[in-house]
Amino acid sequence: MTEVIEAIKRSAFRIQEAIAYDDTGYAENENASGDVQLKLDIKSDYIIQEELAKVKSVKAVASEEKETVDMLNEGGKYLIGYDPLDGSSLIDTNLSVGSIFGIYEDDFSGPNIKAAVYIVYGPRVEMVIATDTVELYRLDKNSEFKFIQTVHLHEKGKLNASGGTQAKWPSYHKAMIDTLFAEGYRLRYSGGMVPDLHQILVKGGGLFSYPGTLDKPEGKLRMVFEVFPFAFVYEKAGGKAVDGHRRLLELSPKDHHSTTPCFFGSNYEINKVLDVYSKIV
Ligand code: AHG
Repeated sequence: MTEVIEAIKRSAFRIQEAIAYDDTGYAENENASGDVQLKLDIKSDYIIQEELAKVKSVKAVASEEKETVDMLNEGGKYLIGYDPLDGSSLIDTNLSVGSIFGIYEDDFSGPNIKAAVYIVYGPRVEMVIATDTVELYRLDKNSEFKFIQTVHLHEKGKLNASGGTQAKWPSYHKAMIDTLFAEGYRLRYSGGMVPDLHQILVKGGGLFSYPGTLDKPEGKLRMVFEVFPFAFVYEKAGGKAVDGHRRLLELSPKDHHSTTPCFFGSNYEINKVLDVYSKIV
């Protein structure tokens, strides 16, 4: 596992430099999920695969940017599902973006995720590693990730990050979000899953939701690359992560690009989600 984390750190240094200085324009391709790709999406994907290929314990990798699972070392133990540059449509606005990694054994399913790591490329570069605990690191001027603190969610937070097109939200979802705002919650939503979930984690709690919508009943966010890694982080930090009914980490994707509605937060907010969604007929 240590070797995998070291490869992720090396990738982060290189991606950070690419974000800072490379061309931020579009490439000519679309990725496996049908999104238009930036040149930076392609480069970040290339960097990560190159670094992970140096690690003998990595058996195979699945990237949000690729259709296929790539076999790296037949005798390896770990399967790595990653989103090389999540939130890349924000690059032109200079908002924070991130890289997300799920470290799995046997298959890319919720029950088989063993660790999760994400990097936030913001004014500072930060890395969160979730194993049995959730630890926050920050890149220092010697290009080393220094440990900052262990992260724990409180029982209840103050932030509400509600994703998806509001005009397409089911009425019960809109009513639930309105109830939170009526209780005093503040809106925090940049459109980048990494900084939005990082903010809630660092501030101690709240709710991030990306529901099933009338046009996308299975939501937008991908289980293997985005949802399972953050579900692992939130559970290990003392919070919860559900699809409205079940723990996200009980789910298995139909294929490695499957999406799901998802809700991440502290206990109070997620219990509210489960209560509202349990009444849907
Ligand atoms: P992309 O990588 O194409 O910028 O997508 C970002 C993802 C995720 O990071 C974020 O939470 C979500 O899409 C935002 O989607 P909406 O714009 O539909 O809210």
